[in-house]
Amino acid sequence: MALSTTYESVLSALRETPRRWLVTGVAGFIGSHLLETLLRNGQQVVGLDNFATGHRHNLQSVQAAVSPEQWARFRLVEGDIRDPATCQTACEGVDYVLHQAALGSVPRSINDPLTTNAANITGFLNMLVAARDAKARRFVYAASSSTYGDHPGLPKVEHLIGRPLSPYAVTKYVNELYADVFARCYGMESIGLRYFNVFGPRQDPEGAYAAVIPKWAAAILRGETVYINGDGETSRDFCFIANAVQANLLAATTTAPEAVNQVYNVAVGDQTTLNQLYALLAERLQARRPSLSVAQPVKRDFRSGDVRHSLADIGKARERLGYEPTHRIGQGLDVAADWYTRNV
Ligand SMILES: NC(=O)c1ccc[n+]([C@@H]2O[C@H](COP(=O)([O-])OP(=O)(O)OC[C@H]3O[C@@H](n4cnc5c(N)ncnc54)[C@H](O)[C@@H]3O)[C@@H](O)[C@H]2O)c1
Repeated sequence: MALSTTYESVLSALRETPRRWLVTGVAGFIGSHLLETLLRNGQQVVGLDNFATGHRHNLQSVQAAVSPEQWARFRLVEGDIRDPATCQTACEGVDYVLHQAALGSVPRSINDPLTTNAANITGFLNMLVAARDAKARRFVYAASSSTYGDHPGLPKVEHLIGRPLSPYAVTKYVNELYADVFARCYGMESIGLRYFNVFGPRQDPEGAYAAVIPKWAAAILRGETVYINGDGETSRDFCFIANAVQANLLAATTTAPEAVNQVYNVAVGDQTTLNQLYALLAERLQARRPSLSVAQPVKRDFRSGDVRHSLADIGKARERLGYEPTHRIGQGLDVAADWYTRNV
């Protein structure tokens, strides 16, 4: 679990010369972890969020985890990325933008494509324009593995994508197209991070659009039925949050010209089926709460818009960014299981 040399030197250079960062979606799962790592390393952070799916308690957890001096370097802008003026205000004077704000979830986008489009495409474009006008050094944004769509190739390599399978996947692909065009037209520097099923503490277990790990963890801890969509042989490359944080900091600060204006897979390079995931998770939760009786999960229909298999080739991020995941799925689930046991 040692940090890669590149990441270690990035962190120590940042501590020596602190920068000003904008994290959008700061009250969300990934955004709140970016905030925590940046503050712990002495950075100034502006956060932007409208609390659509994020929570104040995520910010309170970060506050509790850092020192009062570190927390004093954080300023929250409560607002919506669909409003260009809010984006302009948030971008003022920032060196790096880590754009995470968006409406996640494939099923949400199928049920309500207009709202997803407004946050994920209009909001994204507002943020690009604001970052360009504020002359931010770099714009790093949350792309998605859903962009691989129906391309059958495994492992997924960045230049081979298929047709999108959901409105959500369209929005994330459009982000990449816009970022690319802003590099050509305005000389902007950006990097897209195609996250593959990120998980860890603070990922929201509640609501119809919760991701699989928090949803299952909460259901197991509450003794509720766990449903598997399909036969359970659907697979994913589950990526612990610390790996995603690392990728963001490397992407923001890299000075290698061949690393910039690119997209990268952010994952581990391990394929886990849903059946395997259930066993790994149940075993950890039961070890922490021995009184728990864990039932077999119930299989139901496949969910529309879902990709069948997902596994990343992370060679490009390794080579160009010096990315080296610190946590494989089991190590990440240990941390996540501790957190869900304490918080559900
Ligand atoms: N978690 C994953 O596995 C995963 C995978 C691929 C891509 N992503 C992307 O990573 C990013 C962060 O995801 P997350 O898992 O932390 O989700 P999250 O829902 O926890 O965080 C998203 C944050 O954005 C905020 N937000 C949404 N719409 C907004 C708007 N219009 N204006 C301002 N703030 C807004 C929400 O309130 C929330 O705090 C998203 O762009 C998501 O699409 C996540």
